[in-house]
Amino acid sequence: MLTDKAVVMKCKIIPSDLKAIINSISKIESDTLLLVVDNKVYSLLEQEMDIVQEIQNKGKKVILWKSSEGEKAKSFDEYQCCVEFFLEKGIHRNCHLVAIGGGATTDFGGFVASTLLRGIKWTCVPTTLLAMIDAGIGGKTGINSKSGKNLIGSFYLPENVYINTAFLQTLPQREISSGLGEMIKYSFLNRSIYEELIKGKDYKEQIINCAQFKQQIVEEDFLELKNRKFLNLGHTFGHGLERIYNIPHGIAVVWGMALIFKIIQEENYLSELRLLLDILKWQEVDPPWHNKRFPSKDLYDYISRDKKRTSRNSIDLILLDKIGTPKIEKFFLDDLEKKLDKHESKLRIFNLRSAGHIIF
Ligand SMILES: NC(=O)c1ccc[n+]([C@@H]2O[C@H](COP(=O)([O-])OP(=O)(O)OC[C@H]3O[C@@H](n4cnc5c(N)ncnc54)[C@H](O)[C@@H]3O)[C@@H](O)[C@H]2O)c1
Repeated sequence: MLTDKAVVMKCKIIPSDLKAIINSISKIESDTLLLVVDNKVYSLLEQEMDIVQEIQNKGKKVILWKSSEGEKAKSFDEYQCCVEFFLEKGIHRNCHLVAIGGGATTDFGGFVASTLLRGIKWTCVPTTLLAMIDAGIGGKTGINSKSGKNLIGSFYLPENVYINTAFLQTLPQREISSGLGEMIKYSFLNRSIYEELIKGKDYKEQIINCAQFKQQIVEEDFLELKNRKFLNLGHTFGHGLERIYNIPHGIAVVWGMALIFKIIQEENYLSELRLLLDILKWQEVDPPWHNKRFPSKDLYDYISRDKKRTSRNSIDLILLDKIGTPKIEKFFLDDLEKKLDKHESKLRIFNLRSAGHIIF
């Protein structure tokens, strides 16, 4: 049985600029650093500085793996090529892996670190909003299987998480929306994050609050046996939609929450969701199934195979008692299927436009 409180406490979140990040990476206690960098991020960084050269100038050996862009990295093929590449270079157990990229790269890099030589230390440098506040924190690592996302993985904490919001300057708007989706999820889970967002504070000021909130939950429940499950608000439907429509994770989570609020909970949470989206100037107000049939069957099929399912005929859903107070409720899969079928025609015209433009 894993009991990892001590390991959890080692994970530090440090807001920093790129130069300071390079300095900190160069001070990591290891003579050899394995850099796993998202290919696109690497090209963008190259325009600013040669990070490999900078780190080597500070006396480290650097072995660089440029990983396929985004989600493409989370495959068996990429995993095999990457670990074989590092092993051929003659690495040792004190090598330290540094993953630089969005959540896909940090999931992938962390998984490589957790399995290489039965586990080497690693550091996470998130470059997307979603990875800064969520994916990069908490040590869930993994790759995808044909049967679903993140089905092969490990719980394996990074030693450090270095957050530099300047990375967001090059991030496409859709990926910002995706990160905002997770931020909105936090605001339903944590009253003070909700209040700050409602005040209309710039989301960048919220990044460290969100990162620390996630870190705190992870410290309380590293293995997701209790409160960490709350972070899955919107994810049961969200993961299904992400898979069916190939949309960014955080955007799928917003639609996942919208479905929970629409078909399972009272609708006042839907108004709160619309309000937050409006404040954050969220663009994705039409659902991925816009003008098409709502995919009840595909969604149900996905949910009934979800790895978070804890029994053959039921699933735990995260709902809200009130804003800031989530709860877990068991749902029979049969009942869920009936609810999806019942709402299918109404969901066809559902959207998240703000009050005044609500069609539904
Ligand atoms: N481990 C966890 O706890 C956890 C939590 C949530 C999500 N995730 C995973 O995270 C992944 C999604 O991560 P993501 O949303 O960060 O997206 P991502 O890593 O897939 O990156 C999205 C796109 O942005 C590009 N990109 C990254 N940083 C950039 C930058 N600074 N400037 C310009 N382009 C940049 C990437 O090349 C890619 O094209 C999913 O695989 C999801 O399953 C994991």
